[in-house]
Amino acid sequence: MIPAKDIEKIKETARIEEVVGDYVQLRNRGSNKLGLCPFHNEKTPSFTVSPAKGIYKCFGCGKSGNSISFVMEHEQLSFPEALRQLAKKYNIELNEVQSEEAKAQRNLFESLYIINKFVQKYYSKNMLESDEGRSVGLSYFKSRGFLDVNIEKFQLGYSMDSFDHLIKAASAGKYNEDYLIKLGLIGNKNNRKYDFFRGRVMFPIHNLSGKVIAFAGRTLSSDKKVPKYVNSPESEVYYKSKILYGAYQAKSSISKLDNCYLVEGYTDVISMHQAGIENVVASSGTSLTKDQIQLIKRFTKNVTVLYDGDMAGINAAIRGTDMILEADMNVRVVLLPDGEDPDSFVQAKGAEGFSEFVQTEGKDFVFFKTKLLLEQSEGDPVKKTALIRSIVETLARIPDPIKRSLYIRECSQLLKISEQIIINETNKVKRKKVDAYNSEREKTVSAPISNSPSNPPNFPNPDIASGKTVPIPDYQAATPENRFDKQIHKLEFEFVELFLNHSEKPIAGVSSLQWTFNELEEVGLNFQHPICIKVVDLFKEKLSAGEIATDKFFLEHEDNEIMKFCSNILLNQQEVSANWAKMYQIPVKQDGASYKDRFVNLVGRFKLVHIQKLVDENQERIKNTSDPEEMGKCLQIHQTLLKYQNDLSKELGSVIIR
Ligand code: CTP
Ligand code: MN
Repeated sequence: MIPAKDIEKIKETARIEEVVGDYVQLRNRGSNKLGLCPFHNEKTPSFTVSPAKGIYKCFGCGKSGNSISFVMEHEQLSFPEALRQLAKKYNIELNEVQSEEAKAQRNLFESLYIINKFVQKYYSKNMLESDEGRSVGLSYFKSRGFLDVNIEKFQLGYSMDSFDHLIKAASAGKYNEDYLIKLGLIGNKNNRKYDFFRGRVMFPIHNLSGKVIAFAGRTLSSDKKVPKYVNSPESEVYYKSKILYGAYQAKSSISKLDNCYLVEGYTDVISMHQAGIENVVASSGTSLTKDQIQLIKRFTKNVTVLYDGDMAGINAAIRGTDMILEADMNVRVVLLPDGEDPDSFVQAKGAEGFSEFVQTEGKDFVFFKTKLLLEQSEGDPVKKTALIRSIVETLARIPDPIKRSLYIRECSQLLKISEQIIINETNKVKRKKVDAYNSEREKTVSAPISNSPSNPPNFPNPDIASGKTVPIPDYQAATPENRFDKQIHKLEFEFVELFLNHSEKPIAGVSSLQWTFNELEEVGLNFQHPICIKVVDLFKEKLSAGEIATDKFFLEHEDNEIMKFCSNILLNQQEVSANWAKMYQIPVKQDGASYKDRFVNLVGRFKLVHIQKLVDENQERIKNTSDPEEMGKCLQIHQTLLKYQNDLSKELGSVIIR
């Protein structure tokens, strides 16, 4: 644990423009600074830094935050790692309190990293400086067409054809043999120790921060009985299923280009780099794991899978890919010509030929699979049924409903089957998955976030006055993607912006914050967007302690989501106040309006949208009921709501937002 006062000190010292300035050239633009965004590829700068507020936001890709989150995001570090890095940069001493166990753990990790680093340097030195290394290892890489820059970039090396060359080197360097055994670099059988990798060319495997965590060794023998690649065993620092080869060298390119190529082999990665294509990682010949998919997803949602054009390649492409779709990522598939792998292909065609091939031959995975299976099942009804099942399985994994329905439409045309049948089948599969999931979990599941408030707003309704209870319109029955909810969320964002800027200023004798809460409470309106709820709850919490939370409180908040959301809102408003109406598609009287007018106007609009939502839901109910009594009640509600709507919009003097 890093103590709070150290964190405070880092926050005070690490000025955003300096931290960002290490990576991005910034120029002045009014009170802000502007540069090219390091998180995506752009030619005109849209990355904005506010030194006064200590925050950044990119208007191109939307990334935002403070200096700590910048380091976390840019270097892909955890919170404490980012703090440690900043502390180092600013010479701030950290008084980290660690349990003995945590300390031992960290020491172990550090020792293992030190050993791996030593061994990597040792393998490189073998290759570049010994006769055997040069004539066997280096010449092999040269024969594969690898250039020195890439041999260096990937820290390639060579393990001597000897049982104790590494053992001797480690002992000469006073490296603890136990650690080398732990890492599998030295084998230990019946108390006889031996070098694990012998006479192989060595590929170090790095974690995301560039530390060597394991090695892969390729044999130079063509004997089929000798395994082509041998890997370090798993260890405290190496979990096979959690890493992808090349991720460290690829990460910044992946996020800049917003796409990741997925290949199978080590040599594929290196040859692609050599052709100038750096956004590439390798699954190392095994099928992808969920952790590996999440790792890619940290940098992009778009994956292009490159596979051999033979049957094995095609099957591999189909097998791993459903899982990527399930992670709500977009997947394209490129089948290379039979007998080629990305390494041989890119070396033969060069970067341009490669890109052209990917452009023309790349296919959306869902359509790729559909067409492929369609070809295979031609004229065979039994096969075709199986094919539809399999497609439906794929479709059911797409989490985004809009995307899913677009795919369903296309697939129904390809398969020549009605859209409705596919929808029904997809829903069946989804339901089955949900059931399976639910039965696996105990019933401790927290309530799902619903689009509608659990307590409907208590706008006066006709029957309350007469003492009768009225059936509340069935909120769950409302259309799931309620267009009003979108408006409501936007208005909630506006509230947060106003709160961050003006919460302490008075309206009607109380703080405007308090005033707003009173107004909304009176009609039973709550916030519904999860992040706005979080922010508003924090405001309320402080308020009940007699304080008003400042923008600083939120911009330095330890909850990253809150901090980012608030920096985003604040810089957005600074930058685009002119563009505001366009961005939010809401007519906003902002320029020149006093904060008071803005609060009053916003509360009015907020109420109005909620009423419109109720009107809409009520109308839906009228459409769907055949019970005359219910119909009568609904019509009455309708009248009352309309009256409120009219009164409110008159009061607001604004257009009705639709
Ligand atoms: N692989 C492995 N162990 C093996 C064979 C393969 O771990 N015995 C993994 C490696 O990560 C390898 C990948 O599967 O890079 C793909 O295998 P393959 O296509 O056979 O090797 P290439 O990467 O093409 O290697 P090379 O070009 O040197 O033959
Ligand atoms: Mn190959």
